Amino acid sequence: MATSVRSFGKINLGLKIGPLREDGFHELRTIYQTIALSDTVRVDVSKGVGIEIVCKDNRVPCDESNTCWRVADRILRSLKTRGKIRIAIEKRLPVQGGVGAASSNAVATMMALEKELKQQLPPEERLRIASEVGSDLPLFLMGGTVLGTGRGEQVYPLEDLPSFHCVIATPKVGVSTPAAFADWDKKWPAKPAKSTDQKLTDLKLTDPGSSDRISMFSRTVYEWLNGSYTPTGVPSKGWDRAEALLLDLVRTGIENDFESVVFPKYPAIREVKRALEHSGAKYVSLSGSGSTVYGLFADQESAATAAHKLTESDVPAQATVTLPREEYWKELFPGRVNAA
Ligand code: C5P
Repeated sequence: MATSVRSFGKINLGLKIGPLREDGFHELRTIYQTIALSDTVRVDVSKGVGIEIVCKDNRVPCDESNTCWRVADRILRSLKTRGKIRIAIEKRLPVQGGVGAASSNAVATMMALEKELKQQLPPEERLRIASEVGSDLPLFLMGGTVLGTGRGEQVYPLEDLPSFHCVIATPKVGVSTPAAFADWDKKWPAKPAKSTDQKLTDLKLTDPGSSDRISMFSRTVYEWLNGSYTPTGVPSKGWDRAEALLLDLVRTGIENDFESVVFPKYPAIREVKRALEHSGAKYVSLSGSGSTVYGLFADQESAATAAHKLTESDVPAQATVTLPREEYWKELFPGRVNAA
């Protein structure tokens, strides 16, 4: 027997990059939202030792650098158990595209391996292993709408947003996340300590204050999520609420900071944002550091048309929906299957 787990992707609804920390990571704030597009991760355990990764997509590493491998190794140590672990990954999500595929695959491995071993890690141990392997893993232990703080690994479930129609478009350009952070640091060097002979113009050239931007994000998010709960007649449920939230999202101007360094370097990605805007998307943004750009749509038909148009112009695109927490957990286990 093997255990299959759906490994859903995520998008970032706004992302603010804060100060570079002493540990080499950046403080950040973001809202993660899981989406219904998924890979499938199948894990089986037999007698013996070793971890084997199998994936037909040759962009996915099958060695110890794979996040699934790293999670499996840590779980075996944590549970003080042994076994021959086979992890088969079936890709449908963009690889290195900013939708968290590798992180999600790793968390799916965790869920599947626990089932196969018939042992559960305590929740704090799951979280420890997930955040050790990568900043984007813990969100997948929650699913739905999630606030990310710290280096992105500290996660808090938010009240779930309703499901939005959405298009995920991934131009064929590789964006490295560490390089995008480095470009950000070049663009916004840390504010120099104020000295008495410093000219005012020097200060104006520097970052308005990464800590200020971070707290501004909290305010805009608060404004956004509370805007649609006013007693002024905005419905609190159903698609009308989704539409009201979408309009408010645009109004509050929540953005992804990576756009300001990624778009100038890769104009093709900016073009995809423009194409989605012209296709009638209510809100368009880069996801993570890209290259995926997503558009949120008011209806399924315009999302499908936009995805079709982009695919025809050689930009791989898929129409999908955002996935609230309850559905995320309901659809995680498609059922046990026989090992091949
Ligand atoms: O945690 P993760 O493996 O996703 O991070 C990959 C790289 O991205 C880190 O080594 C670091 O260079 C950069 N990073 C960062 N600040 C974050 C998250 C990632 O600088 N908050």
